[in-house]
Amino acid sequence: MTDTLVLGIETSCDETAAAVVARGSDGAGRILSNVVLSQVAEHAAFGGVVPEIAARAHVEALDGVIRAALADAGVGLSDLDAVAATAGPGLIGGVLVGLTTAKAIAYAAGKPLVAVNHLEGHALTARLTDGIAFPYLLLLVSGGHTQIVRVDGVGAYVRLGTTIDDALGEAFDKTAKLLGLGYPGGPKVEAAAASGDPTRFALPRPMLGRPDPDFSFSGLKTAVRNEAAAAAPLDARAVADLCAAFQAAAADVVADRVAVALGRFRADAPGVVPTLVVAGGVAANAAIRARLAGLAAAEGVRLVVPPGVLCTDNGAMIAWAGAERLALGIADPLDVPARARWPL
Ligand code: KG4
Ligand code: ZN
Repeated sequence: MTDTLVLGIETSCDETAAAVVARGSDGAGRILSNVVLSQVAEHAAFGGVVPEIAARAHVEALDGVIRAALADAGVGLSDLDAVAATAGPGLIGGVLVGLTTAKAIAYAAGKPLVAVNHLEGHALTARLTDGIAFPYLLLLVSGGHTQIVRVDGVGAYVRLGTTIDDALGEAFDKTAKLLGLGYPGGPKVEAAAASGDPTRFALPRPMLGRPDPDFSFSGLKTAVRNEAAAAAPLDARAVADLCAAFQAAAADVVADRVAVALGRFRADAPGVVPTLVVAGGVAANAAIRARLAGLAAAEGVRLVVPPGVLCTDNGAMIAWAGAERLALGIADPLDVPARARWPL
């Protein structure tokens, strides 16, 4: 067998995840297993992720999740070519649990360790699912990050734009909390928006038309809060309408910012037909996907959005980023540090 087999471990937020991924010598990827244990129930009562609870839950669950990932893949530790784990950025307690576990396994099994940047995991997922070539334009929209990046190669990222305040997923989560929809907010806002009228409430489109493809969402969040206060007490219809208005504003902003970034990409890489990749938890949002599909069609650009389970945090993306690094001869020493902050 010429495939490279990598175990990937992800514990940087509120999913305890492990997966086994194969990478062929031709660069093609295959997911052999992908086990994700969500901690949603543990954090729901608090309306968001509590770092200490997350770290403890990772400690309790991780061994079983790794065992399940190996069993599902039908492989043992000796079959692996490397062990990869998220080394940051993220909640440091959780990152330490996953990275330390990966170090122990790598040491005990005598396998190389690959310390993966969580954002690189999101960034490279489209090569696992769709085998796309470099360079491509990446819109990374998650709970902690909102960035537009030109991906030139493994480890070669040029950031074209970023948020100056909240991440888009965070704005979804805060909107949900404000409207009493609970946690995690993104899917709840999307579900409520489905029956809402996006035109009843007029919300701002921050940064629309700006020459640099940056984002800002705190003003939008404040506008939702003000409209909600003015319309109180909110009935289910008002909540649905506010969610629909928020989601429409978010989609407008995202489409406008990506259009600007596409112009940059074309100017920087003339002759390359851009592929637009969307990654991160918010990429699971059907309204935003549909909006980007329209933009891509109008611009003659290929749009790649990995399936939802690979957009939200998972072990396969970390295993794959590890396999991509390993293919370039990159591995890490066992004393590689965990990093709470680690820009792409
Ligand atoms: O990538 P991810 O799983 O974790 C981070 O690395 O942050 O992204 C989680 C974020 C959360 O803010 C969540 O509310 C958002 O992605 N999200 C969504 C949807 N599903 C998840 N936002 C909007 N619509 C969705 N369907
Ligand atoms: Zn993530």
